[in-house]
Amino acid sequence: MRVPFRRTIGRMEGYVPGEQPQEEGFIKLNTNENPYPPSPAVLRAIRAEAGASLRLYPDPGATRLRSQAALTYGFDLSRVIAGNGSDDLLAMVARAFVGEGDALCCPTPTYTLYDTLVRIQGGRIKGIPYPEDYSLPAALAASRAKVTIVASPNSPSGTGVPTASLADLADRVAGVLVVDEAYADFSDTTALSLARERENVIVLRTLSKSFSLAGMRIGLGFAHPAILAGLNKVRDSYNLGRLAIAAGEAALKDIGWMEKNIAKIQKTRASLLSALPSLGFSPFPSQSNFVLAKRSRGRSARPVYEELKRRKILVRYFDTPRLSGCLRITVGTDDEVGALLAALREML
Ligand SMILES: Cc1ncc(COP(=O)(O)O)c(C=O)c1O
Repeated sequence: MRVPFRRTIGRMEGYVPGEQPQEEGFIKLNTNENPYPPSPAVLRAIRAEAGASLRLYPDPGATRLRSQAALTYGFDLSRVIAGNGSDDLLAMVARAFVGEGDALCCPTPTYTLYDTLVRIQGGRIKGIPYPEDYSLPAALAASRAKVTIVASPNSPSGTGVPTASLADLADRVAGVLVVDEAYADFSDTTALSLARERENVIVLRTLSKSFSLAGMRIGLGFAHPAILAGLNKVRDSYNLGRLAIAAGEAALKDIGWMEKNIAKIQKTRASLLSALPSLGFSPFPSQSNFVLAKRSRGRSARPVYEELKRRKILVRYFDTPRLSGCLRITVGTDDEVGALLAALREML
């Protein structure tokens, strides 16, 4: 059947998220979820909200959540926007800045959703390849694109970019610089100060990873009010439900819970990083809750991915020329990572 979609929609592939197996019993190290549960305060807040008030629409401004975010991160409320996950905020950026034929510039490889969102707009990605060490490519600033996006820490490499390099890039780009900080809590830097001080920087955060709330869909954006005015025009009015607003507020109030989990994940990350070389993988230095590891001697990582999956251990494999030798492994609990390492040892 020929469906009369817009030309660009008819032609494009949709985004393919990492596998979420419906079958039980998998060790899931493929979508960078937190292996630890969210704060008990979050669960209490959700239960308290789950009542008769659900018949009413939520606050379109998610004010309770945004006010807590402003307090937690040291921003004026007028510089905070909330999203149904940071994917929702990325979609707002694409809708607000990318028109038919426009380019969005980003270093590659990176989060592939950027490409999908830009294609939906009828635009295109201008990808500037990262050098082998994943430092920021010098050519980024020269693109003249209206929007430049840098994920820092980046996915799938796990590597981070120093704030000074991002500040320098913000000075040189022609338009707006978006810093996608989905994994920043696992690193030792953040560009939030740039969103406070500069007029052309948007910093995006998510509660999916460090706050163990991937299932609630809560994202935060920080930028100058003039930028947020545009994003609000293209935002779905009720983009966060009542439960998400309550959960997000409670999570941000219990930063200590998140920090304890981060410390555990960083410790497990260190042991994963040190074990991989003896198993024939070179890991890239990780600032996130996952590790990209490259198989030695240029061999494809696909058979390893497939054998791990057969053993009910899911990691992420990317079938592209640059990444076909690599596995991206989410840092799970010590037991989960121990099971992965034991399986790799057996397969050697
Ligand atoms: C770089 C990056 N940005 C954003 C997201 C989206 O996160 P959220 O769950 O907040 O939509 C992800 C999720 O994997 C990611 O890897």
